[in-house]
Amino acid sequence: MPQIVMLVGSLRKESINRKLGHALRQRMADRFDFVVPDLDLPLYNEDLWADPPAGVTALKQAVEAADGIIVVTPEYNRMTTPIIVNAIDWANRPYGKNSFAGKPAATIGASPGAQGTAVAQNLLRNLMMIPGMHVMGNPEVYLTVKDDFFDAEGGFANERTVAFVDKWIAAFESWVGRFS
Ligand SMILES: Cc1cc2nc3c(=O)[nH]c(=O)nc-3n(C[C@H](O)[C@H](O)[C@H](O)COP(=O)(O)O)c2cc1C
Repeated sequence: MPQIVMLVGSLRKESINRKLGHALRQRMADRFDFVVPDLDLPLYNEDLWADPPAGVTALKQAVEAADGIIVVTPEYNRMTTPIIVNAIDWANRPYGKNSFAGKPAATIGASPGAQGTAVAQNLLRNLMMIPGMHVMGNPEVYLTVKDDFFDAEGGFANERTVAFVDKWIAAFESWVGRFS
């Protein structure tokens, strides 16, 4: 099965975006294998390449082996989070050893707010193009997450959400297929 690296832009245990990533992986388990790297990495520091942090090496190896990238992003101040920016910075370096070039990719995200990460994802897609990811532009999925959004098994509680997300999943599968 094709392998997908899922970057989750929140470190907290009860993160709605971590839960979203989990629900998405459940729905895609029959078509992709997933790697979810630990993004609790030191802030980017050129000096650390002398003895790179294990998490950075693992991230780069996972991205290089991947057939596609999914970024699940929260919205912080109408932006993606520093966790995602930092992960992209690390795997884009050292100079000449960018791990992302040519990888098909997509964004998705959740927020308690009405705009559901729309602004953050819009900026994030531009950022992801810099290291040469081929970013799926549509369909766009911006999710407003309230208490009853996930069911007891960690899936999507609402059938309309399932139908909406499934269209995004089908588009992503086809997008990845175009670059394989
Ligand atoms: C520094 C900071 C900035 C935030 N800015 C926004 C924002 O611009 N838009 C928004 O919808 N929510 C914003 N929020 C609220 C987050 O959407 C909310 O905390 C969300 O649960 C974070 O994602 P997570 O649950 O995956 O950690 C912000 C939260 C923090 C901590």
